[in-house]
Amino acid sequence: MIDRHRHGWWREAVFYQIYPRSFMDSNGDGVGDLRGIESRLDYLAWLGVDALWISPFFKSPMRDFGYDISDYEDVDPIFGSLDDFRSLLDAAHRLDIRIVVDLVVNHSSDEHPWFKAARSSRDDPKHDWYIWKPVEGRRPPNNWISLFEQRSAWYPNEATGEWYLATFTRNQPEFNWRNPELREAIYRVARFWLDLGADGFRMDVATAYFKDAEFRSNPPSPVLVPDLLQRHLYDRNRPEVHGVFREFRALADSYGDRMLIGETHGQDPALAASCHGERNDELHMAFNFDFLFRPWGAESFRRSAERWYEVLPDGAWPNFTLSNHDQKRHYYRYRSGADSDARARVAAAMLLCLRGTPFLYYGEEFGMSCERVPRKALRDPLGLSTWPLPLGRDAERTPMQWDASPNAGFSDAEPWLPVNRDYKDKNVEAQRADPGSLLTWYRRLIRLRSLEPALRIGELRWLDAPAGVMAFRRSFGNREIDVWLNFVARAKTVTTLGGSVLDDPGETIAAGDRELGPYEVLITAREA
Ligand code: GLC
Repeated sequence: MIDRHRHGWWREAVFYQIYPRSFMDSNGDGVGDLRGIESRLDYLAWLGVDALWISPFFKSPMRDFGYDISDYEDVDPIFGSLDDFRSLLDAAHRLDIRIVVDLVVNHSSDEHPWFKAARSSRDDPKHDWYIWKPVEGRRPPNNWISLFEQRSAWYPNEATGEWYLATFTRNQPEFNWRNPELREAIYRVARFWLDLGADGFRMDVATAYFKDAEFRSNPPSPVLVPDLLQRHLYDRNRPEVHGVFREFRALADSYGDRMLIGETHGQDPALAASCHGERNDELHMAFNFDFLFRPWGAESFRRSAERWYEVLPDGAWPNFTLSNHDQKRHYYRYRSGADSDARARVAAAMLLCLRGTPFLYYGEEFGMSCERVPRKALRDPLGLSTWPLPLGRDAERTPMQWDASPNAGFSDAEPWLPVNRDYKDKNVEAQRADPGSLLTWYRRLIRLRSLEPALRIGELRWLDAPAGVMAFRRSFGNREIDVWLNFVARAKTVTTLGGSVLDDPGETIAAGDRELGPYEVLITAREA
């Protein structure tokens, strides 16, 4: 038996990310809310997920839709109340589903009372909680950029004759993590949610907490994507952050079984790997986003996963993500006409069978895609500032498609973002009853994972396979599970050791050559 507690529940969990504005609206204002989530817990339990990460639902002026927080210890009325959160948490826990809260503490909202005090005077006790530089002439102190505004990250503050720093929108001033009182204040916020019973935190832009002590300018980047116009050597990814990760870890571990997963930015998975700490005393997990940027293909994903396994320190646990609220959904990225569903099935099997905790994004389980959001419906500050480039994030945040009724069953009112036009055919209700649907496939894979320790925590060994096929063996005790994934639209011949076919119970195959059909997934099990 595995000691789940000692081992860490999060290693074995399937996570499901909810963007709360878009999941389920319970009060008819066109925006999703906590009661809406609670009303759909039975669906999540049916699907079989073990933990939810809910994007921010705290008090916020919504300049970045909740990633700009003006009160860390309250729920925004648009999402409900603290009592709604308590009720959701209780209901989820009764179903054995954990809830991880989004901790956005690289910056606050400019409407947070802390910032209002800080900007009022250089002598204010909270002044040093944020980052300031004296205004000397018109030139900002260095070349750091505000990602969502595509301009300098330094904004003047008249009352103090200083610039403040905000690398997302101007409404998200950045904390000074070098200040011990600020640190304590954030740890109090963390304790507030852990005391309420939250199962952990997803830590927003965790690797950006510290900026260069000398405020050096970033060197230019050769790659022309807005976030990458510069190499973020000095405004993010500073080594001092590891000290804070250790403090956070000690705090979380003092509650027993809570979990921290950090959002990391950077092209090299070595950065994410380093956030676990050499002695595994930093974050429990750090997101590796490499799959979000991989072209379709067995070799491309295999190289990515191999590198991730390689760079993780001993004892650190991997995780994988194909979609989230900041990037185009993978169903859309990897679409290929009539083969789109078949590809999504292959991707799901990869995500749910690799060694590492999988993170699903709401709607991916039935193939939600991204449609073009018309200009007048755009809401995301990044999308508005970069229009007509397709960089905005509204398309991946559209309302959950529950059924074929108006507004896809998400709300009685007009939703805050348009519902994808394909919702009448593509929705939970339509696929739930269909044994051949993508949704049923996800559910079966999740169930398989929950039944098979080999898939959850077993070792992984890559198997030889022809071009276009990814193959690996997961093993635990004497149980061996082989996963064959055909990423291409042509049949491929593979040589297997045979076994019972897990993705099609009842069938067994003999050892030897076996043809894999186009986009076929074959999962076999044996006792070694
Ligand atoms: C993270 C979030 C993103 C948000 C940004 C600023 O990258 O995932 O949605 O806009 O941080 O908080």
